[in-house]
Amino acid sequence: MGENPARHKILVIHGPNLNMLGTREPDIYGHQTLEEINSALKAQAERLGLQIETFQSNHEGDIVDKIQQAYDSFDGIIINPAAYTHTSIAIRDALSLLNTPVVEIHISNIYRRESFRQISMMSAVVTAQISGFGPHGYLLALDGLAQVLQD
Ligand code: DQA
Repeated sequence: MGENPARHKILVIHGPNLNMLGTREPDIYGHQTLEEINSALKAQAERLGLQIETFQSNHEGDIVDKIQQAYDSFDGIIINPAAYTHTSIAIRDALSLLNTPVVEIHISNIYRRESFRQISMMSAVVTAQISGFGPHGYLLALDGLAQVLQD
């Protein structure tokens, strides 16, 4: 497909330890690697006519920097803040800066797990949340964003 400058640009942010998917607690997070998830996202983006960039970091400040850089340069964000979901007011504040739709995604159902995971610092500032569909949740998030952006 040729470059179309009108295509919406989506940024996918993966938080700490998600680089270990595939080997990390597969009974909870499944067997797909992050690379496989990113490939599936790229294929789905292509089908939906979206541009996509993926980013992973284990560092809170790097995630904040990336969200700030997304201001004005992306049309939508998908973020799995991983453990920072439950602790990071800095990431929440960065997401609050954005005027674009944001989807928070969790591979596991955080509401069926330990009580500390049942609190999301992000949920009140995001457009939507997906939790518990396994890695497929990323594709659902992309479909949802495509819909919201075309409405
Ligand atoms: C997670 C859930 C978090 O509680 C955990 O710290 C993660 C992954 C998920 O995708 O299910 O790292 O965000």
